[in-house]
Amino acid sequence: MAIAKSAAILILFFALACNANNAPIVEPVAGPDMFSHKNMARDVLFPGEKIVNVQDFGAKGDGKFDCTQAFMNAWKKVCHESSGPTRLLIPLGRFLVSSMYFNGPCSIPSPVTIQVQGTVLATTDLSDYGNGDWLIFQNHNGLKIIGGGTFDGQGKNSWQYSENCDSAADNSCARNPSSLYFSQSSNVIIQNIRTANPKGFHIFVTKCTNVRLRKLKLLAPATSPNTDGIHISHSDTVIISRNTIATGDDCISMIQGVKNIFINKLRCGPGHGISIGSLGKYPDESEVRGIRIKNCTLSGTTNGLRIKSWPDKYPGAASEISFSEIVMTDVKNPIIIDQEYECYPNCKKKPSLVKLQNIHFANVRGTTTSELAVDLRCSKLYPCQGITVRDVDLKFGLAPTTSRCINTQPLFAGLLMPPSCL
Ligand SMILES: *[C@@H]1O[C@H](CO)[C@@H](O)[C@H](O)[C@H]1NC(C)=O
Repeated sequence: MAIAKSAAILILFFALACNANNAPIVEPVAGPDMFSHKNMARDVLFPGEKIVNVQDFGAKGDGKFDCTQAFMNAWKKVCHESSGPTRLLIPLGRFLVSSMYFNGPCSIPSPVTIQVQGTVLATTDLSDYGNGDWLIFQNHNGLKIIGGGTFDGQGKNSWQYSENCDSAADNSCARNPSSLYFSQSSNVIIQNIRTANPKGFHIFVTKCTNVRLRKLKLLAPATSPNTDGIHISHSDTVIISRNTIATGDDCISMIQGVKNIFINKLRCGPGHGISIGSLGKYPDESEVRGIRIKNCTLSGTTNGLRIKSWPDKYPGAASEISFSEIVMTDVKNPIIIDQEYECYPNCKKKPSLVKLQNIHFANVRGTTTSELAVDLRCSKLYPCQGITVRDVDLKFGLAPTTSRCINTQPLFAGLLMPPSCL
């Protein structure tokens, strides 16, 4: 019996291990939206909701005591040992914790709330981060993180070890730990929270559906490497509104498998702008479809709106993407499609296998720091289809700007500065 049992566990182990390595990701599809038509701006306790304070589990808010075990015990109480509505409270103070999991599903009625009033500080020794990321949230259906507090990744000393995994040509690159990592979850709200100085990304969302990221302030120095604000992959229905992001890399980056993303009222800069890609990096990439970016400002960023794909690699696709009502101030590359990523100029490689279709730029105005304001360089093998550029007014200081179109014939319309490349 004991042997049969351990054999079964062994088989299960190999099944899981094989699945992790080989099976293609099943793309998540958004189900019912738990928070639709709810007033999320208000944070009221649910009737009978209990509060579990990390201090009651031994946490000390002095910025020095290692509160990891106290946080884990308090989380266990909230999520796995309660039955009625319960929330985790991190009160005012500075609480030092290393890497930890906030795993679901929880035994309480959904959603589970984490209310952060104080500051949660990351330990600084990178060897504490064998889990890959700092605070890891997975397998939730209904999770709220609120409260006005801060997650401080204390990343400064780790930045010198940071590798740029986006421009690395293969998969062998080790990212620095992201501060908040969400996976395999649905109905997630993160609202009115700050993150500062992450070691890697501020927020990483993967394999999630129905996620709302609202009123966040994500801050890191312009010189901090690879500190993307929000990085998303393999997720359906993510609403990103009213955020301020000033960081050292992309404000928002989206790669394979993202669908139905809505970004509005973003204030981005400094940083590298809003990026889709790089695409075509991995075999069997899932498509990107349905991204709407509206009513945003970008200030002092290297890029504004960028779509990038690798030449001579794997197939991929991105379609139904729109950028509108965008104000730029001193942006280097305001509108850029680059299908020769890490190869331009004089790229001698075979063209990109990524198909770009139905991409619309409308009502984009402001100033640039380079003359070439609209730069659309598509794949010779798969010229971009259905690109429109409408009502764009971008000036290089007071000087006019130019546009370039390679392997695409966009539709230009409305008032145009730069003038049409055609
Ligand atoms: C965003 O919308 C508001 C309200 O309609 C407007 O006042 C503001 O100028 C818009 N911002 C941008 C960047 O278009």
